[in-house]
Amino acid sequence: MKGSFKHSIEGERIYLREITLQDADNREYCRWMNDKQVTQYTESRFQRNTAKTLRSFISQMSNDDNVFFAIISKDNNKHIGNIKIGPINKIHNFAYVGLIIGDKSYWNKGYGTEVIRLVVDYAFAELCIHKLIAGVYSNNVGSLRAFTKSGFATEGIIKKKYLFDGEFMDEIIFGIINTSADPCLTHSGGSGMRRSPKGLMNP
Ligand SMILES: CC(C)(COP(=O)(O)OP(=O)(O)OC[C@H]1O[C@@H](n2cnc3c(N)ncnc32)[C@H](O)[C@@H]1OP(=O)(O)O)[C@@H](O)C(=O)NCCC(=O)NCCS
Repeated sequence: MKGSFKHSIEGERIYLREITLQDADNREYCRWMNDKQVTQYTESRFQRNTAKTLRSFISQMSNDDNVFFAIISKDNNKHIGNIKIGPINKIHNFAYVGLIIGDKSYWNKGYGTEVIRLVVDYAFAELCIHKLIAGVYSNNVGSLRAFTKSGFATEGIIKKKYLFDGEFMDEIIFGIINTSADPCLTHSGGSGMRRSPKGLMNP
């Protein structure tokens, strides 16, 4: 599974590996990125995706500020969605997280919760992230529930931020903090704390 990927995570029913440019040629991936029901609570709903636009997005995310994973079902090796840690702020050690379970046959079976939990553990233990943040449409019940079940707490509400079906929706800001003694932090002299996370460069 891991192959030569810098970042990969093994879960119970799924594994995560970095997404590659070749993934853009997977028609299923392109199909779910154009499925209005799948993308209704994401900004992806405003664009039509093709292998070319997916390749371009994957290229943009292939840098040190993001870790962009494909979610693969272990029983059939199927690419069922994506999850991204990023952008990562390397000064304050916080990052955003966003996900799409694109294959709807995998909805409501605990995959969203499983993948968020895996990524939280990885971000905290391997990337030395101190805080993860997620922004969720207030009417995205499944996502609100999956983040809550994964240990995120509501930290704020941005009122009437997103236009959805002709109505403005609130954005719920979720956060989770790494409360473990952080082995990644080391004193770097005059400028305070720095870190040496796996696969990430100090600023
Ligand atoms: C939102 C999403 C990540 C949820 O993933 P999932 O695998 O379906 O969620 P889970 O199975 O882990 O469900 C978590 C909880 O939410 C509930 N749930 C899931 N979808 C739901 C829905 N549409 N309506 C009501 N409850 C829902 C589940 O029943 C479960 O609750 P429970 O454990 O109390 O019974 C997934 O549906 C998805 O990717 N949707 C499209 C893209 C998207 O909205 N991404 C999130 C952007 S922030």
